[in-house]
Amino acid sequence: MNEPTPRYWEVFFEVYEALPRQGPGNRACAAKALALCRDLPPTPAVLDLGCGTGGQTLHLAGITSGSIIALDSHAASIERLKAEVAKRGLSHRIRPIVGDMAGTGLAPESFDLVWSEGALYNMGIENALRVCRSLLRPGGCLAFTDAVWRKENPPPEVKAGFDQDYPTMGWTHNVLATIEKCGFGVLGHFTLPDEAWWDDFYTPMQRRVRELRGKYADDGEALAVLDQIDREPELHRLHSEYYAYEFFVARRTE
Ligand SMILES: C[S@@+](CC[C@H](N)C(=O)[O-])C[C@H]1O[C@@H](n2cnc3c(N)ncnc32)[C@H](O)[C@@H]1O
Repeated sequence: MNEPTPRYWEVFFEVYEALPRQGPGNRACAAKALALCRDLPPTPAVLDLGCGTGGQTLHLAGITSGSIIALDSHAASIERLKAEVAKRGLSHRIRPIVGDMAGTGLAPESFDLVWSEGALYNMGIENALRVCRSLLRPGGCLAFTDAVWRKENPPPEVKAGFDQDYPTMGWTHNVLATIEKCGFGVLGHFTLPDEAWWDDFYTPMQRRVRELRGKYADDGEALAVLDQIDREPELHRLHSEYYAYEFFVARRTE
């Protein structure tokens, strides 16, 4: 498959940055994952890796009393989050920073909780887990979501999509084995329910695509990108039994 063009990314971000979240997830799942964490201090130091525009960061600030560093490599998302944090008067709790999660430059063993929804796969799960481990203090917790297969022989269009975006995607048991291999004990895991794909992600995505179809009515290139983006929710509606998003919660061993 061809590499996406600069125009693709321009329209892609025009859709994605306007969404409450840039991936599947919801508040109930985040609360459930947080409840699986153990022995967090009363005001934990939290790191949210690949925070996007910070939907889950702002929620985490509500359900923990800690301070949060929210890191993403896409500067425009961080600018949006900074503006929202300032608007909500949360600058003393949340520090959004532009950075690469593969080399954050943050002090080793300085976090009680590393959180990451839909982002760790970008650097390969095993590599990502080693990075997370090095940032966590011994006994600190890691909560992350990752896409996994759940049924053999996916339709060709589903397979092609993941071959493009996440060619090393495994099954839940593969991720669990990798977690243990990388120096963590598993505290729990669960599959995101279907509403976590739709309420804050695909439904607003479809609405945003409809809006932009009006804006770009005379722009064939932008319309082609919008068609491509629009296909993902449709594929999910047809074939979601083949894959899932799994929330994993683990604790760094000593
Ligand atoms: C699927 S989005 C999820 C965003 C957010 N966690 C959410 O669930 O709404 C993945 C995010 O990871 C970020 N990302 C990808 N590679 C990264 C890297 N190497 N370092 C930091 N962020 C990265 C992207 O910019 C994007 O915002």
